[in-house]
Amino acid sequence: MNQTISQKESFWSRFATDFEKRNNYVAGYTEIEFLKNRLAENTNLGITLELGCGDGVFTEIIASNSEKVIATDWSVEMVDVSRQKFKDNEIIQVKQEDCLNLSFDKNSFDTVFMANLLHVIPTPERALGECKRILKRDGRIIIVSFTMQGMKFFHKLGMRYRYIRTYGKPPKESRVLTTSNLKELLGKIGFEIKSIDLIGDKMKSVYAIAKISEN
Ligand SMILES: C[S@@+](CC[C@H](N)C(=O)[O-])C[C@H]1O[C@@H](n2cnc3c(N)ncnc32)[C@H](O)[C@@H]1O
Repeated sequence: MNQTISQKESFWSRFATDFEKRNNYVAGYTEIEFLKNRLAENTNLGITLELGCGDGVFTEIIASNSEKVIATDWSVEMVDVSRQKFKDNEIIQVKQEDCLNLSFDKNSFDTVFMANLLHVIPTPERALGECKRILKRDGRIIIVSFTMQGMKFFHKLGMRYRYIRTYGKPPKESRVLTTSNLKELLGKIGFEIKSIDLIGDKMKSVYAIAKISEN
């Protein structure tokens, strides 16, 4: 499917007003705090673009090590919530953007960050192609996404139950991102992986940092 900015995001938008609360229930507050602490280890991020920021759960952590953050989401409702949340934060600007058709010029950003986005969009390779285009040549991409990979059976079962109870049936384009399929995807688009790990305790996340390959 060829999405454009004129189409409306319809799945996540319904949860914009209490997304953080819902996500804390589904994924667990401590698991999300753990991710924030890991993300805080990324320093000197420069000018950062965040894709699929949702209600901005990870935006402040990324902003704390960036010169400036443009936090974007395709959902107008999510953008409204984030804009309100960060209205007094001078380095965070919130904007509606479709990660499959970014409006930015090439070589615009030092860092692109995305959390829990790649596994919910129809064409992750297209989004990564856009990231490569708008990143400066020595820029980096930071990707973190929840995954079923490596989760214990009963934790998976609990998480599925909480997810369906909270969000209903997942969007049809959802997939499980794993360390191996993300590695393959990044390589195919021309990124050189600096690190890729499976992190977390009961909930697992794929966590990758990559740069544009020089070859
Ligand atoms: C699972 S939520 C994750 C939100 C946030 N990053 C987090 O981890 O809490 C996925 C987000 O991606 C957004 N999204 C979906 N398709 C998108 C697209 N094509 N471009 C930009 N954002 C998109 C949704 O509106 C939603 O806010």
